[in-house]
Amino acid sequence: MINVNTFKEAKGNKKLVQVTAYDYNTARLAEEAGIDFILVGDSLGMVMLGYPNTLPVTMEDMIHHGSAVVRGAKDTFVVVDMPFMSYQVSDEEALMNAGRIIKETGCQAVKLEGGAKYASRIKAITDAGIPVVAHVGLTPQSVNAFGGYKVQGKTKSAAADLIRDCIAVQEAGAFAVTLECVPKKLADYVTKLLHISTIGIGASNNCDAQVLVYQDMLGYSADKTAKFVKKYANLHDVIVDAFKQYKNEVSNGAFPSEEHTYKISDEDLENAIKEVEEQE
Ligand code: KIV
Repeated sequence: MINVNTFKEAKGNKKLVQVTAYDYNTARLAEEAGIDFILVGDSLGMVMLGYPNTLPVTMEDMIHHGSAVVRGAKDTFVVVDMPFMSYQVSDEEALMNAGRIIKETGCQAVKLEGGAKYASRIKAITDAGIPVVAHVGLTPQSVNAFGGYKVQGKTKSAAADLIRDCIAVQEAGAFAVTLECVPKKLADYVTKLLHISTIGIGASNNCDAQVLVYQDMLGYSADKTAKFVKKYANLHDVIVDAFKQYKNEVSNGAFPSEEHTYKISDEDLENAIKEVEEQE
């Protein structure tokens, strides 16, 4: 299993790969595929629970899904997202909630959204020995403040703010920073500038690591995905076709066939029926 030191060793030498997972089975598959580290993202609000955004996700949701992932990927470094309002109020609350996530899921690190504004939260959590990934650029918990999901850091002042945010989270003790939906050149600059790892999603192939939401990259839904998503499979069609075939086979009696049923000898069945009839 990789650990926080692996990120330092890998910087500039080896790209690390992260996918999201929210359940035991997907975590097992990610581990089997040799994925370096897993994110239990609060994106689970949308892709697992059907909310319109990540805002309704609770600590209980993150702990429930996070612990299932840790059970499925015992030898993989797991990062669990801190949900909206679990760290915004104070350093003390942030630390309490980060501690709960670590204790109750068994994961190795937490992630929170925000840069300079939340540097004191990152410091409080890392001072307690809990590794933190920061998340800047398009931070989905601020969707209402952004007025939608948009590329961030495109103007001079927004790019300068993003650079300052990255420096602030590094100084506060984060061991990595996720850069979501930012221009490639800006992500490249930040990746060179920082000594901690950058994790790109809609950023640059020069980031130290990449992350994608697994439902997006596996084509789980027919919905349109962001420009930065590459589909490595079309599970939507595979699953819908399989469900349709199952429905047809049940309707026409082809399933379950001999090979999917269990046997009893004619003699045992006849005797069992006789025994019941005699008792009546
Ligand atoms: O919640 C999530 O899945 C994330 C990724 C998009 C980085 O934060």
